Amino acid sequence: MQIRTVGVLGCGLMGSGIAQVAAAAGYKTYVREVVDSFLTSGMARIQKSLATGVEKGKRTAEEKDKTLRNLVPTTNLDDLKVCDIIVEAIIENVDQKAAVYEELDSIVADDVIFCSNTSSLCITELAARTQRPDRFAGLHFFNPVPIMRLAEVIRGLATSDETYNKVFAFAQSLGKEPITAPDKPGFIVNRLLVPYLLDAIRAYENGLGTIEDIDKGMKLGCGYPMGPFTLLDFVGLDTTYYIANIMFDEYREPAYAPPPLLKRMVLAGRLGRKSGQGFYKY
Ligand code: CAA
Repeated sequence: MQIRTVGVLGCGLMGSGIAQVAAAAGYKTYVREVVDSFLTSGMARIQKSLATGVEKGKRTAEEKDKTLRNLVPTTNLDDLKVCDIIVEAIIENVDQKAAVYEELDSIVADDVIFCSNTSSLCITELAARTQRPDRFAGLHFFNPVPIMRLAEVIRGLATSDETYNKVFAFAQSLGKEPITAPDKPGFIVNRLLVPYLLDAIRAYENGLGTIEDIDKGMKLGCGYPMGPFTLLDFVGLDTTYYIANIMFDEYREPAYAPPPLLKRMVLAGRLGRKSGQGFYKY
């Protein structure tokens, strides 16, 4: 089966980015949200990113228009019945994901591949909640999806070689550089990134320096594009807290334990850029 048509579940920050890169790569792309308002804001995000890409000379106005023509926003799951591969990027909740997989299983053909963009859940468990565990894999993108070149491809215990190879090739066809990651919390990147971010918070709690100086240190001293607190605000403190808890549950190592300050900031609603305040004000 050749992949011609892509389905993306969810048009949030990650889903809209995935839909954008799929459409830009020439795939007819159906992107599905549960309500129109989410779809409208996701499509606006795509329009803005494409327009910025044109301004920065990364693509032509014609390429932008072609990408937009390849996109089919919908709230109707039935529309995805024509898709060859479906990438799910909805809320990080096993039961909610499983509910959509169950519906999709009865709509799409048997050979259609399901991928999840989960950053923290177990791929083997998600696959087991479908009728096609051998045709299921993790495909984890990075924020901002249109800019970050990496994708992690994760095999569940039941993922077939054929599925793994197709998903890997699909990631390459999107212009990404895929790497193979194990089905363990954090995969490769978050397994290393999250303890670093948590450690920055712990170090700050212990008086290492100001937030600004720690950020400046890592940015100017190590050439990181963002210091840890800017990155925490960018990723979202709730997201980081959630991933840290899943990693700590599995590994039981102090490096993954969320620091008290992170928990309190989440409880206070200081979630980073998206809420207007995190370690910085926006
Ligand atoms: N379309 C295409 N290209 C674009 C673009 C767009 N809309 N916007 C920017 N770009 C290009 C720029 O032209 C530039 O390209 P060159 O390097 O070739 O010149 C590049 O992207 C960087 O752009 P800018 O320098 O203008 O943007 P910036 O300085 O504001 O950088 C950033 C933005 C790319 C986000 C950078 O700060 C960065 O890399 N930050 C770290 C992001 C990161 O770590 N993400 C991973 C988070 S963890 C995660 O996602 C996993 C998880 O599970 C939680």
